[in-house]
Amino acid sequence: MRDQIVAGNWKMNKDLSQAENLVAEIQQQVNGQSVKADKVILAPPYVYLNYLTERLSGSNGLHVAAQNCHQELAGAYTGEISAAMLKSLAVEYVILGHSERREYFQESNELLARKVDTALDQGIIPIFCCGEPLSIRETDQQETFVNGQLTESLFHLPQESISQLIVAYEPIWAIGTGRTATAEQAQQMHASIRQHIAGKYGAQIANKIPILYGGSCKPSNASEIFAGADVDGGLIGGASLNADDFIAIANSL
Ligand code: PGA
Repeated sequence: MRDQIVAGNWKMNKDLSQAENLVAEIQQQVNGQSVKADKVILAPPYVYLNYLTERLSGSNGLHVAAQNCHQELAGAYTGEISAAMLKSLAVEYVILGHSERREYFQESNELLARKVDTALDQGIIPIFCCGEPLSIRETDQQETFVNGQLTESLFHLPQESISQLIVAYEPIWAIGTGRTATAEQAQQMHASIRQHIAGKYGAQIANKIPILYGGSCKPSNASEIFAGADVDGGLIGGASLNADDFIAIANSL
C-alpha cells in the first residue's frame, strides 16, 4: 500500500515564537495519539528548518520539508538556498513547482526539471506540485495540461528516481480560495495522473507514487476528498497553520 501522507505548507507565515508554538502543539498531539496518516510532513519557511529538524529528530511520523530550493548546488545566487544546504540540515523533502512559485517567480516546467534532479541527487524527495488554472478547467483541458507538466518536469527521470517522488495535485482555482475540487474531480485527476505515469513507467511504478490533493482542504471536507482510491493524502496550506485543524485533517485519512 502507498503511504498516506499529510503535508503542511506554512508558506510565508509565522514569526519564530508562533512557529515554535505551532510545532510544539503538533508534536504534542501526534505523540499523544496515533494519527492516521503514515507520515505528517511540516514545510515551514527556510529560517525555521534547522529548528524543526533538530526538534523533530526521532519524533515518530513527523518529517520536515522545505518549500523550495535552487537548481544549483552552490554559487553566487544571493538570497537563494541549495538542496545541499537542506541536506546538511537533514531536511528530507522539498516542495517543488508550487503554483505560487510558478506564477510569482516564473518557474517553468524546464526549470523545475532541473530542481527535481538537484534535489534527488542530494537524496531529498521532491513533493512535485502540478495543477491547472481556472481558464484551463473551464475549457476541460485539465488532464492535458497537467500531463504536460508531468512530462516536461519528470519524464526524463529513470524509474528508480521517479518511484521515490510524491506528487501533489493542486488545482490553482482551489488554492486559498475556499473553493475545493469535489471529491469526484479530485479522484478523476489523481487517476489520470497515475495513468499518465503508468503509460511511461508502467503500472507497478505508478501505483507506488503517493498523490496528494491540495486546495482549500479543511477538517470538514478532508475525509470525503481522501476517500478517493487514488487520493493518498493532502498538501494543506491555510489549515496547516492551526494545529487542531491540521491534526484533524491527518486523522481524516
Ligand atoms: P490552501 O493551500 O490549503 O490554503 O488552499 C494549499 C497549497 O497551496 O498547498
